[in-house]
Amino acid sequence: MSCNGEIICLENIYTAYEGAAYPVIRGISLAIRQGEYAIVGGPNGAGKTTLLESINGMLTITHGNAYVCGMDVRRHGHEIRRKVGYVVQSFYFDPLTPFTAEEVITMGRYGLMGLLKRPGEADYRAAEAAIRLLGLEDIAHKPIGTLSGGQQQKVLIAQNIAKEPELMLLDEPFSNLDLCTREFVSGVLRELSRKGIAVVMVCHAFDGLPDERIRILVMRDGSLCLDETCDPDLVEAKVRRASVVQ
Ligand SMILES: Nc1ncnc2c1ncn2[C@@H]1O[C@H](COP(=O)(O)OP(=O)(O)O)[C@@H](O)[C@H]1O
Ligand SMILES: [Mg+2]
Repeated sequence: MSCNGEIICLENIYTAYEGAAYPVIRGISLAIRQGEYAIVGGPNGAGKTTLLESINGMLTITHGNAYVCGMDVRRHGHEIRRKVGYVVQSFYFDPLTPFTAEEVITMGRYGLMGLLKRPGEADYRAAEAAIRLLGLEDIAHKPIGTLSGGQQQKVLIAQNIAKEPELMLLDEPFSNLDLCTREFVSGVLRELSRKGIAVVMVCHAFDGLPDERIRILVMRDGSLCLDETCDPDLVEAKVRRASVVQ
C-alpha cells in the first residue's frame, strides 16, 4: 500500500504503551479517504481506542508509517490534533463545573485561535452553527455539569464539530444515547462526511446507523480482521462474526 492523498494512511503500524512489553496495535494498514464514513467494531480490549489515539498522534508508533491530514503522525502530532476532532470514550463533568454547554462547545475553537486566545466572531459563529446542527439551543446556557450524560455527549460532539475538523474520530459516541438520538446524531455525522469530513467512529450499536452501505472495520487482538463495505442490515452479523476467534 502506498499513501495517495488519503486523510488517514497507515502502513503496517505498531503502537505500544510506554513500558509495555508488547505492542497493542500490531501490523495495521488502513487508508481512509476524505469524506468517508466508517465504523470500527470489535470486542473490548481489541485496541479500538488505541487505534484512534495512534491516528491522533497521542501514542508512540514504534514501527510502520502513519500519515494523517498529509502529515507524518510521528513528527506532527500537535498540528494533526488541531485538524482532527476527537470525541473521547469516557468523560466526566463535575456538577459544579463552571462552564455552560455553549462555553464548552466554544472551547473546540481554542486550538485554532490566534495569539490572544480570545474567541472572535468566526469562533462564536462556528459554535452557534454546531449548537443548531445538534439541536442544543435549549440547553446551551445551562452549566455542563447539570446536563444528562446523553446531553453532555452531544455537547462534546458539537464541540468537535465547531472545531471544523478535516477528520472526526469518535469513540463510542452513542453509549449514552437512546435509539432516536443515535439515529439523529449518526445522520448529522453522515451529513458532515458528505461535506468532505472523514468520520471514523467506534461503535457497538448498529441499529441507529444511516440506511445505506457502510464501511466496517473490525479489530481483534490489535489487528484489523475485517475491512469491507456492506449493506446496513448485514453490519451487525458481520461485525459479530469477525469479532470472535474462528
Ligand atoms: N494506558 C494504557 N497503558 C497500557 N495498556 C493499555 C492502556 N490503555 C489500554 N491498554 C491496553 O491496550 C489494549 C487495548 O485497549 P483499548 O484500545 O482500550 O481497547 P478497546 O478500545 O478496543 O476496548 C488492552 O489490552 C488494554 O489493556
Ligand atoms: Mg475503547
